[in-house]
Amino acid sequence: MDRDAEGLQTLTGQAQGLAGTVEPRTLDLTDLDAAEQVAAGTDILVNNAGLQLVRAIEEFPPDAFHTVLTVMLEAPFRLIRGALPHMYGQGWGRIVNISSVHGLRASAYKSAYVAAKHGLEGLSKTAALEGAEHGVTSNCVSPGYVRTPLVERQIADQAAAHGLPEERVLADVLLKDSALKRLLEPHEVAEAVAYLCGPQASFITGISLPLDGGWTAH
Ligand SMILES: NC(=O)c1ccc[n+]([C@@H]2O[C@H](COP(=O)([O-])OP(=O)(O)OC[C@H]3O[C@@H](n4cnc5c(N)ncnc54)[C@H](O)[C@@H]3O)[C@@H](O)[C@H]2O)c1
Repeated sequence: MDRDAEGLQTLTGQAQGLAGTVEPRTLDLTDLDAAEQVAAGTDILVNNAGLQLVRAIEEFPPDAFHTVLTVMLEAPFRLIRGALPHMYGQGWGRIVNISSVHGLRASAYKSAYVAAKHGLEGLSKTAALEGAEHGVTSNCVSPGYVRTPLVERQIADQAAAHGLPEERVLADVLLKDSALKRLLEPHEVAEAVAYLCGPQASFITGISLPLDGGWTAH
């Protein structure tokens, strides 16, 4: 499910054959009632949609703050709420919330994103406690910087916010706190999600799995 129909088509093509039948749905997650309804009947819920805006707090548009919190915290709550009756009914379910190292650490100029991801970590733990007796696990995967459009789009904003040329943003800002000096690849995140949904991880719930190149070792 995504609001971007074209991106969804590409993703669906990649996923066909990997995981049985894939039914793409176009949905803007700011429609919270629709999000809750569409989650009904879900066995495995991966909350992945996200957006970023890099601005100092005093310049951060309040409506953008609201949208980030809606898509990245309130929508996951509504999706979980919609998914749980079926999961509880069958005594099995998996919830994986794509958080971020920014669910565990803050960075300047990312107030909405950091607030949403810290909230998502709390929501995920609460779902873990409530879901345990029903066979439902809930965990976060918390990556550092991943090679995706979300990162490519923030290079210019980061350069402006930090007063740096764009070519210095990767080394001086994005990878500054990472012991491993490379971007994470999207498939590495997907593999962590698959692990948390598999039988090896049935005793793992309420955790945050940092894929952060040592960032949170500081
Ligand atoms: N890229 C990174 O470095 C990084 C690091 C840590 C965590 N994450 C998290 O990974 C997740 C995926 O991000 P990404 O890097 O692939 O970014 P991306 O911008 O490539 O993908 C985000 C997706 O969310 C969808 N989306 C945004 N607003 C939506 C809405 N209102 N309704 C429905 N869909 C909506 C977009 O259409 C897009 O497909 C996000 O939760 C992000 O916070 C990314």
